[in-house]
Amino acid sequence: MSDELSRKLESKIDKKLKSRKKTLDDGFKKGKVVNEVLDKPTVMTLYKMISDHVIAYVNGAVSAGKESVLFWGVDEKENNVALKIYLVSTSNFKKREPYILGDPRFSNLKKGTKNLVYLWAKKEFRNLTQCFDAGIPVPKPILVTNNVLAMEFVGENGSPAHSLLDSQVDQDDYDQAISIIKDMYNKAKLVHGDFSEYNIFKTENGLIVFDLGSAVDLRHPNSQEFLKRDINNITRFFNKRGISVEDPTELFEEIIA
Ligand SMILES: Nc1ncnc2c1ncn2[C@@H]1O[C@H](COP(=O)(O)OP(=O)(O)OP(=O)(O)O)[C@@H](O)[C@H]1O
Ligand SMILES: [Mg+2]
Repeated sequence: MSDELSRKLESKIDKKLKSRKKTLDDGFKKGKVVNEVLDKPTVMTLYKMISDHVIAYVNGAVSAGKESVLFWGVDEKENNVALKIYLVSTSNFKKREPYILGDPRFSNLKKGTKNLVYLWAKKEFRNLTQCFDAGIPVPKPILVTNNVLAMEFVGENGSPAHSLLDSQVDQDDYDQAISIIKDMYNKAKLVHGDFSEYNIFKTENGLIVFDLGSAVDLRHPNSQEFLKRDINNITRFFNKRGISVEDPTELFEEIIA
């Protein structure tokens, strides 16, 4: 693409991104967030999602993590869309390698950070799709393009639903969390790998698990170790909140049996 054309596209998307002027929760102006957080290829990817009618516009940033930012998009039917954008420039993907090397679904891995970022986004999309198809409560995946993953927005008006950490929890939540681990293992053939109170929404329709980038295929050599850790983490959380929990080792044995 010529420089002239890419400049034009960029200014066009910048206009779209800024078209709904509003200050974000963190006090940033949208244009500023876009200019400072998103690199040019990412802006181009968002533009592509607009021209492909995946979204109609982008409403601004919802949350910024170290390696991804979550943007609030809106589609042509006014549905909210969550855009999880993996940051290409700042990512330290070394620590992600153990979750992707060893997964037979991604055996022909090419070297290079950008490549790995794109692959990671694709991996999270595949994991979401595998879970969604198996009937596990996850945000419905929509599409992945380069480092941008579009999925159902869980929450209202650009505010994500509360995580388990920020919610009152009861016995039924514990049961649901354990069912999710079991179903992921037995039906979706995956282990989450980062299953915790931070990565589960509590909604009025029950728990919804997200952040599936780390999820691995059962054939991954460390899948059982990851499963053990997932069970331990969630057990510790519910135990601390005064919920009666099953013995994590027995639970582990029961799941892999
Ligand atoms: N589908 C979604 N709908 C609404 N909000 C979402 C969705 N997915 C993620 N979020 C919000 O974005 C935040 C970060 O998402 P996620 O946990 O997937 O990314 P992450 O890279 O692990 O970031 P962090 O390091 O903050 O955990 C979540 O805590 C949640 O508030
Ligand atoms: Mg997370």
